[in-house]
Amino acid sequence: MSQTPRPLIIAGNWKMYKTIDESIGYIKNLLKTLDGTASRIFLAVPFTVIKTAADLCKGTPVVVGAQNMNDAAEGAFTGEIAGRMLKEAGAQFVILGHSERRTAFGETDLVINRKVKRALADGLIPLLCIGETAAERSAGQTELVLTRQLEADLAGIDAIAENSLILAYEPVWAIGSNHAATPEIAQTAHALCRRFLEGKFGQEIAQRISILYGGSAKPENACALLEQPDIDGLLVGSASLDPESFSLIAQIETTKTLKL
Ligand code: PGA
Repeated sequence: MSQTPRPLIIAGNWKMYKTIDESIGYIKNLLKTLDGTASRIFLAVPFTVIKTAADLCKGTPVVVGAQNMNDAAEGAFTGEIAGRMLKEAGAQFVILGHSERRTAFGETDLVINRKVKRALADGLIPLLCIGETAAERSAGQTELVLTRQLEADLAGIDAIAENSLILAYEPVWAIGSNHAATPEIAQTAHALCRRFLEGKFGQEIAQRISILYGGSAKPENACALLEQPDIDGLLVGSASLDPESFSLIAQIETTKTLKL
């Protein structure tokens, strides 16, 4: 078995919060607390904040990204933003397929798949989110839904370079609810995702793809979630808005060993 550790990724999703001014104070506070942390810290910020945040985070463990992009390279799409614009502004990753985009903006798996391909082509790491609703879970369809989303969202992507894709399991019922999935429920879903990735990309690559858990992740439940063998990090919404609570999560130490 390889002893190479899989580094934890703690990602904050600011959603539609924080102006440029507010972000500067936040990032300066966060950076002060991160000395010596072994985790990689990702911050998905509003479009307007990307450039400022990326400049402030240069040479630090913090990686800045976006929360959405268009699937076209460029074009007459009023109000949209292209991957290469995000990249130029300093984004290194982009959240795609978040349940708020799927439900509030009608994004289908087909569109998400096109966005994932465009992000890869533009040199951005897609942080692809999947997850079942409460109704799907109580109907016993969790496995079916997750597999269907993975198949559709990653269709046509047959090979993936190291560190070029991140997955997030975000049960829709746990997002913003203050009721995170139990570590056992999350681990079961993560193991399913890992098996899918192994079938698609092979064991060696699948073992290196980080699978984050998202949905009411907080300093109080982060440790138990991160102890699960297939939970490689967290995608944190509301608890990432406060630099102190976010940095408490970022400072948790657990080591994942690749099972190769
Ligand atoms: P939450 O959001 O932590 O506030 O539940 C997570 C997310 O939407 O990514």
